[in-house]
Amino acid sequence: MFNFVVLPIVLASFAVAQSTSNPALEVEAIKAHFQQAGIVPAGLPTFNPGAVLVADYAGVGAASPGQALTRAQVGPAPTINVTPANSSVSLSGLYTLAMVDFGAVGSDQSAGVTRHWLVNGVTIDNNAVSNASAIAITQYAGPAPPEGSGPHRYAFLLFAQPESFSPPTEFSQPNIGVSLFDVNAYARDSGLGAIVAGNYITVEEGTATASLSATSPVETSTLAPAPTSSGASSGGSSSTRTSSSTAATSTAPGSGNANQNGAASFATSLGWLASSVAAFIILA
Ligand SMILES: *[C@@H]1O[C@H](CO)[C@@H](O)[C@H](O)[C@H]1NC(C)=O
Ligand SMILES: *[C@@H]1O[C@H](CO)[C@@H](O)[C@H](O)[C@H]1NC(C)=O
Repeated sequence: MFNFVVLPIVLASFAVAQSTSNPALEVEAIKAHFQQAGIVPAGLPTFNPGAVLVADYAGVGAASPGQALTRAQVGPAPTINVTPANSSVSLSGLYTLAMVDFGAVGSDQSAGVTRHWLVNGVTIDNNAVSNASAIAITQYAGPAPPEGSGPHRYAFLLFAQPESFSPPTEFSQPNIGVSLFDVNAYARDSGLGAIVAGNYITVEEGTATASLSATSPVETSTLAPAPTSSGASSGGSSSTRTSSSTAATSTAPGSGNANQNGAASFATSLGWLASSVAAFIILA
């Protein structure tokens, strides 16, 4: 519950930092976002992009990191733009573009993440992702998070695709439907390179309720304390369950919040730095 309330507020402050036109700063801001939103390291072990990725949805424009969008807004495929952090980052060659659903913060991802888009062999043409000679393993399928399951984090990931790229057989044919998969295992097994750029949006359907009932301590707290010695053990197990249930809800959000505060102030200073740079440029 806590993270569902706190996260959008923190993300709102990030939107300010994102409105810079300095790609080197934007890369750092997106990295901070992935950390504070818990995508790194829970969903992706590492994320060190050398370019800014921006998804541009018709009628929305360039989505800022973590921007909350509606199902209707993200129904049609966005265009994807990629800008190098600096002139020493080259975006030639082939890439694999993926969009995956990391679910709500703290949700169980052990069964994999939902693959909403997977295109091999895209190129970067004038800072835009081009699919002219690409193979769509999974065509873009707009987010459709279950009602009440909280704000899902949909990440766009652009992997370097070396010539030795060789996808596992189950992902070697086009037009495979949306399903769960392990994006990290896919990248490893295919021989994909590093994630050169990424970003994410959030989409929520209805009001979060599912995770509340899943981790609610109400049931244990209503257990009647049993008398005498069995009471001690029952009470002990009850409080253990209560605290482990509390830990389950607070672990991800709690550690996330520590990061959020650090990341937020980092982003605030990035935003400040960016405006200073902008002001300097205007003055110069
Ligand atoms: C260019 O950006 C990349 C990625 O952020 C960074 O690792 C590298 O140090 C930068 N190079 C220069 C010359 O600033
Ligand atoms: C390329 O993009 C267009 C527009 O989004 C889409 O209709 C088409 O299916 C895509 N092709 C591939 C191979 O991804």
